[in-house]
Amino acid sequence: MLSKVVIPVAGLGTRVLPASKAIPKEMLTVVDKPVIQHVVEEAIEAGFREIILVTRSGKQAIEDHFDHHYELEHELTRKGKHDLRAAVNDTLPDDVEIVSVRQPQALGLGHAVLCAKHVVGDEDFAVILPDMVIDNPDGQRDLTAMAERYRATGKGQIMVESVPQEQVQRYGIVDCGGVPVGPGEAAEIRGMVEKPAAEDAPSNLAIVGRYILPARVMQLLQETQPGAGGEIQLTDALLTLTHEAPLEAFNMRGRVYDCGNKAGLLQANVALGLRHAETGEALREFLTTINW
Ligand code: G1P
Repeated sequence: MLSKVVIPVAGLGTRVLPASKAIPKEMLTVVDKPVIQHVVEEAIEAGFREIILVTRSGKQAIEDHFDHHYELEHELTRKGKHDLRAAVNDTLPDDVEIVSVRQPQALGLGHAVLCAKHVVGDEDFAVILPDMVIDNPDGQRDLTAMAERYRATGKGQIMVESVPQEQVQRYGIVDCGGVPVGPGEAAEIRGMVEKPAAEDAPSNLAIVGRYILPARVMQLLQETQPGAGGEIQLTDALLTLTHEAPLEAFNMRGRVYDCGNKAGLLQANVALGLRHAETGEALREFLTTINW
């Protein structure tokens, strides 16, 4: 049973200020949809049916986005704009439920996930970090492949990608004991460390923000002490888990855009915008004119 996905959305979005002053950073757009809709669609395609947002005050726009907007739907119907009405209406399929819980204090990612404990119950679950938009232009999405691997093996999965050595201190880094892990492959995790200094990093395999985890993680999080940055780190609880149960690093095939920072958000807009039916042609042409 793998149906629930926890999406922490309580961050302040300081890296994309001033854009995120009055709207949640998750509502910034990539082409024609907010970032949060891109990741919710990714989760739905991978088979998840219960979306649990971990939110905070000032972030109601996210919940509103997935709710009905009767006045808008009525107006678009009246004007015969059926495609637009469908786009507004279809932010969430009927068989998908969305609920939100609050993270009253910013005590870290591990704490945010723990805030969803009573909704997750004793089921295995996924965690998606919504800053990271994953693009799989050809073929199956990485999250779908990772969920299939969990369903086939019963082992927890953490998505990783190789990053340049000088960037390891920005991420959780996994140690697969030097076993080569090609794109689309997985290997057992022997150790992991949150935001290590470059000289202490056991590898350059960075956690990109997609996890499929056993229910036990919630209990481990309750016992996890503050770690890197004084925050309760999911990575620390997962390291404890590796001593009890196998956990695999799944190396992604696609490309990840960190939409929690300005350059990543722009890159995602260009990459996805070039393939979008309404914007691709005009954007391609425009990019050739600014090639100074
Ligand atoms: C979090 C995780 C980290 C992961 C990163 C991916 O860190 O703690 O392990 O590599 O997300 O974006 P944050 O970026 O929230 O500091």
